[in-house]
Parts: sequence; structure tokens; C-alpha cells
Amino acid sequence: MKKYRIAVIKGDGIGPEIVEEAIKVLDAVSVAEGFEISYKEFLLGGAAIDVTGEPLPEETIEGAMNADAVLFGAIGGEKWDNLPRDKRPETGLLKLRKALGVFANLRPVTVYDELINASTLKPEVIQGVDLMVVRELIGGIYFGEPRGREGDKAFNTMVYSVDEVKRIAKVAFEIAMKRKKRVTSVDKANVLEVSQLWRESVEEVAKEYPEVTLEHMYVDNAAMQLVRDPKQFDVILTGNIFGDILSDEASMLSGSIGLLPSASIGEKHGLYEPIHGSAPDIAGQGIANPIATIASASMMLRYQLGEDAAADRIDRAIKQVLAEGYRTKDLSSYDAKEIVSTSEMGSLIAHYASK
Ligand code: IPM
Ligand code: MN
Repeated sequence: MKKYRIAVIKGDGIGPEIVEEAIKVLDAVSVAEGFEISYKEFLLGGAAIDVTGEPLPEETIEGAMNADAVLFGAIGGEKWDNLPRDKRPETGLLKLRKALGVFANLRPVTVYDELINASTLKPEVIQGVDLMVVRELIGGIYFGEPRGREGDKAFNTMVYSVDEVKRIAKVAFEIAMKRKKRVTSVDKANVLEVSQLWRESVEEVAKEYPEVTLEHMYVDNAAMQLVRDPKQFDVILTGNIFGDILSDEASMLSGSIGLLPSASIGEKHGLYEPIHGSAPDIAGQGIANPIATIASASMMLRYQLGEDAAADRIDRAIKQVLAEGYRTKDLSSYDAKEIVSTSEMGSLIAHYASK
């Protein structure tokens, strides 16, 4: 029997509750498809700061490096908000991404027909939206040097090399080849040198994919186009900070940020996490939506472990549960037949996924 070792990082806020449900679903599909998963928990973020004083303990890096994949919940909270940047929970996550070399962050945005009324946008604008944000994850302004504070000034550096842009562009074009063969590269080349280099490097890669249509779009226009006509997009290729902002925006096409999963992949490792944060205001109440994390577990099965049949089971089960009218509180006003708790939602998905 195939065996996989998963490093589990629950994190802060709603992190533990939603990861618990993803594990429940993973267990159900592993039984159904005949493989085994073992889990080992590690600390990151506020939870790690409280115990060790550091947001990313050495043990966590090692555990993540030695696992077949990493499943991650969410981090952060008011309690740790006033720490200096290097001690913050978020810094732990950024360092882990860097250590694992997961340069490609894939954020698929699908609109479930069952939730068409959940979006703040009109149904005719969002029906059939199916796009993928490919965000560069370990470069750009998040990591550029120099950075810091000096007197009454503070500064960060947005920097990309040709190789960094080319490797993320390749991922976007490969994905486009399996989809509608359209890439929209998003930058600010009318102002920033770093974006001009981004554009040139993407053009280079595009030559290797003559079947794919490439379009360039300024980030301000892309932000507008995402709400004006999101169906025009297939693959959105962009840098770290633009991808961070645009993916939150794109999540609202689907109706709730509690629905969108992500996969962060590199040469060797993979980190799977919902795109939403730790939502400390609703932590511990059993009302968080676990679907984004469960869908991230599905991406882990598909992209990292090659267990496509198990991933299909999860994706089908999520659709079915929504079609039957089960909703967590964030989606309670949209065609809901029954409002369920975080753990009930997990159990329902696990149940349908094992059928
Ligand atoms: C995300 C988050 C992170 C990011 C934070 C928590 C560092 O917002 O995964 O989108 O900015 O990358
Ligand atoms: Mn974000």
C-alpha cells in the first residue's frame, strides 16, 4: 500500500479547526482509494512564537522538508501584531515558502453554480468563471533587499531576475496548455523597470508556446477587468504582491474567501493552504468554512501525490454538498437548506467523498 507522510501546520485562529476537517476528508478518501497517510504536526506563526519565541522553529523547516507534502491552515492574530517584522507570524510563513523553494502559487477561482447568488456580482457576470492565478511566491517586493527603516523613512525593494520570471512564466504557460490556452501577464510596465523586465522575460517564454495567446495587462486595469468581465481570463500570471491582491479580489467572484484553495509548488516541495487568513474574530466558534482547506488538500493529492482519483472524489463531494444546500455561516443567506458547523461540513464532505 502506498504511504504518504504529510507535515501538518495548523497555525492560529481558525487554522486548527479547518485543518482538522481537511484531515477527516483525506482519511476518508485514502481508505476509499487504498493508500495511507500519516500526519506529523509542526508549529508556525503565533502558535510557534508562544512556545519557542520564534515564528518558524528549525524543527518545522526540517519536518516540512522531509515530508511528502505540507498541509497548512492559517496564521496571525492581534496578539502578535505589534512584534517587529522579523518576529511576526507572517514572516514565519514567508520563510517557510522560501526554504521549501515553492515559487509557484496556484490559486484557482471557480464559481460553483450552486452559489451563483453568493457573489456580490451579478450572476450573468460570474456564471462559468474558471480562472487560475499563477502568483510568483518567493521573490519580488516581499523579499527584495535592501529593506528597512531609517529615521522617518522606510523602504522595500521590488526586484526580479530574468530567470525568476522565466520559471514562473513556464508554469503559467504549461497550465494554460491544459486549459483554454490564454495567459494574461499582469504588471505595471508603464511605470516600473522591474515590470519592463518581467514583460520581456514573459515574451521570451511565450515563444516556446506558440499555441498559447499571451496578453499583457497593467495591474490597475486587471483589478478593474476582474470585476467588469472576469470570464475573459484563463490564466493570470503575475508577481508576488500583485498576485496577493488580485487573488483576494478574485475570491469574491466565488462568493466567499472561505472557498478558495491554493497550491504552492517548487522543484521538489509543495505547500497547500487556503488563501484566506486566520480569522481570529470567529475562531473557536465552529462556524468557519473548511472548504478552502479541504479543496487545498485535494490540490495536494492531485499536484503532489498523483492521487487524482482521490482528488476527484473530494472535488465532486464539495459540489454535491453545496448542491444539497448545506452551508456554513459565511454562505448562510444563499440558497441554504441547512446551516452546518465547521465539523459537520467536514463530515458531510468526507461522507460524500467516500461513496
Ligand atoms: C496569502 C497571505 C500571505 C501573503 C500573508 C499571510 C503573508 O496574505 O497567502 O495570500 O501575503 O502571501
Ligand atoms: Mn493574501
